[in-house]
Amino acid sequence: MQTRSFDQPGADEAALARVKQDTAAASGLPNHMYTSEAHFRHETEALFARSWTCIGTGASLPRKGYARPVDFLGVPLLMVRDHDGAIQVYHNVCSHRGVKLVTAPKRVKGRLRCPYHSFCYELNTGRLTATPHFGGQNLDSCGGFDPVHHGLRAVRTAVWADMVFVNLAGNAPPFAERIRPLEERWAAFDLSRIRHGGEVGGAMDFDVGTNWKLAVENYCESYHLPWVHPGLNSYSKLADHYNIAEASFAGQGTTVYAPSDDAPLPEFPDLTPEQKQGAEYVALFPNVLLGVQADHFFSIWLEPQGPARTIEHLNLYYVGDAAAGDGYVESRRRTIERWQEVFVEDVDVVERMQAGRHSPAFNGGFFSPVQDTGNHAFHRWVARALTEDILDAAPEGRMQAAE
Ligand code: FES
Ligand SMILES: [Fe+2]
Repeated sequence: MQTRSFDQPGADEAALARVKQDTAAASGLPNHMYTSEAHFRHETEALFARSWTCIGTGASLPRKGYARPVDFLGVPLLMVRDHDGAIQVYHNVCSHRGVKLVTAPKRVKGRLRCPYHSFCYELNTGRLTATPHFGGQNLDSCGGFDPVHHGLRAVRTAVWADMVFVNLAGNAPPFAERIRPLEERWAAFDLSRIRHGGEVGGAMDFDVGTNWKLAVENYCESYHLPWVHPGLNSYSKLADHYNIAEASFAGQGTTVYAPSDDAPLPEFPDLTPEQKQGAEYVALFPNVLLGVQADHFFSIWLEPQGPARTIEHLNLYYVGDAAAGDGYVESRRRTIERWQEVFVEDVDVVERMQAGRHSPAFNGGFFSPVQDTGNHAFHRWVARALTEDILDAAPEGRMQAAE
């Protein structure tokens, strides 16, 4: 009984044109974009591959010479911290016969060796440096074969605030351009000082029965605060919040951030009184949710598992080495517990929105031009990603030339 505009020629174009209208007149994205397997697969190429998408954190690569396989939307990737400590991402496949190189996180002492015919690749460069017996017994080469052309395929990668971003299609505008507006907005917070909370107060996953876009949308608004988060609303009310709606990120801020704690955590230096008392929460499109406050920072990267299931990977960071050490274990524990309570409160509504996407009486809904501007900014970004050659405000014509 679901309305399947997807199957009607031109229906998607019309629906997405409605999404791009002014907030008060716009509709939301149509239902099948939340429920259809075919659309979910389409998003992999049309949206995630073309943008800068987060696939993990540096904290999950705990030492030099470490490799972690990540299957992102069916694509086998390999995140590594190389022998110099730099983070890189390769396609996780041997160039010879296509064996998946690494199947579980592991330490790589020297080179990365394929278990099938023992080809070896340098971790730092991806260069193919050993091809034993490839040309016959004790002959590692043969005529016409040049290992230079058969190294690991590197993925375009950027690391920001410990998040590892990839641009699988390789033709998005540079990450530095993409992140600049948010970096400028949060320039007062010296994110080079953030340290992962580690074993206590560092990380938590949430397995949620919803489309990844609904997790983003819920994060872009504070409108639901009084009804879904009564505890949070007791000290940071809806009226204390303001909306943020930019081209590549959206969310909300509060002018009242003051959770009480007997052992306050160290704060970012040189903040104004307003910055100390405020906090901002933005979704960086497509799949990252961020929070910055005076005494900690967090990121949630969304790992879509299907049209109706998303794993949310929460990582918390504190300010300076001491804050991540033994002296602040209890403060970190309380911090993550507070957030756990808030994020669990959101699960019910995002799962109900997913259920509602099967109703023939709904096909995207509408937006308050006052409360839902951040939410609409995200819908508009998705609509643009699905219909336009130029994604993420690339200079005029640039993406078209590259494609
Ligand atoms: S498939 Fe890897 S060495 Fe042959
Ligand atoms: Fe919420």
